[in-house]
Amino acid sequence: MRTQVAIIGGGPSGLLLSQLLHSAGIESVVLERRSRDYVLSRIRAGVLETGLVDLMHEAGVGDRMEREGFVHDGTLLANGNEQFRIDFKALTGRHVMVYGQTEVTRDLYEARDAAGGTVIHECRGVKPHDLDTAAPFVTFLHDGKVNRLDCDFVAGCDGYHGPSRQEIPTAERTEYEKTYPFGWLGVLSETPPVADELIYANSERGFALCSMRNDSLSRYYIQCDLSDSPDDWTDDMFWDELKRRIPEEAADRLVTGPSIEKSIAPLRSFVCEPMRWGRLFLCGDAAHIVPPTGAKGLNTAASDVHYLFNALRHFYHDRDDEGLEKYSETALARIWKTERFSWWFSSLMHRYPDQSGFDLRMQQAELAFLRDNEAAQKAMAESYVGLPY
Ligand code: PHB
Repeated sequence: MRTQVAIIGGGPSGLLLSQLLHSAGIESVVLERRSRDYVLSRIRAGVLETGLVDLMHEAGVGDRMEREGFVHDGTLLANGNEQFRIDFKALTGRHVMVYGQTEVTRDLYEARDAAGGTVIHECRGVKPHDLDTAAPFVTFLHDGKVNRLDCDFVAGCDGYHGPSRQEIPTAERTEYEKTYPFGWLGVLSETPPVADELIYANSERGFALCSMRNDSLSRYYIQCDLSDSPDDWTDDMFWDELKRRIPEEAADRLVTGPSIEKSIAPLRSFVCEPMRWGRLFLCGDAAHIVPPTGAKGLNTAASDVHYLFNALRHFYHDRDDEGLEKYSETALARIWKTERFSWWFSSLMHRYPDQSGFDLRMQQAELAFLRDNEAAQKAMAESYVGLPY
């Protein structure tokens, strides 16, 4: 098999890249380790920056999102029983779109199918070769046979555990990592959301987040111990704990119901430099992870896809390789700013096991400053709606 761009990973970033390349007349093949059903069963955040919304339209897959997604002009921050609002629209003139990552992925699969795109599922032992030459290729096991895919470029959209990043020689790769001493226990329930906007809550008992997918589907999270397992938490225990962490008026209004999904995710910040090695280009979680507090996981992957797509387009259409040469530098400049925002927002909203009295006062002062200072709110809002590409 031969294609122009071999894309490792059939999650949203690999599919979005493939669909954008198709719109520009550039061929690609997507190799995914899992089945389509498995990919679509993964529950991820659901807040899209304008940049990603625009990319979805550019890829021709924005219609359902426009119909079914929800525009959010602001978000609520709670501190104990107090609450204040960050008005994205007034502060930045922009908004975010609430639309689940699963729905984004579903729309992209449909578009790839409709365009006759090649997405090969259940590929095992995927391995890129000769990335430092002009003729790289990828081998993989599929249907019991070893296959070889020749290509011009390899896009590593294969997540944190994927094989792509490992191809950058360790001597040329630097990885930066921070782990947080807690996790998030998340529950999905077929209940109406407690508020029209998201509530990020800092409380004595730890962080909580009230989010949503639509009018009758809610997503809630509470900070938990890393040693907890979802089985330790009955639905009743979860709802009781959530109610204790959000302002009383919200707790009184909260509609509870059976959970349809319950899981724990650890929090981590991670960046790999560089994001390019020879003809390999990393996108998304393959190169960086953010803690979920700012909902930046999918959005950072989307900005990588934007830079890589445009670089490839200029290469194929204009024989201009400057974008490819500068890909790592350009993508990382934006990634680090989003890493900073996700780290800052996580630090502001969680309770840390080793937090001193002074640390706690600093957190409280920072929340009070944000509540009272428009410039601080504007800085927060600019990052939340998404820094420019
Ligand atoms: C979610 O809806 O799953 C969600 C929303 C906002 C976040 C993280 C997760 O910051």
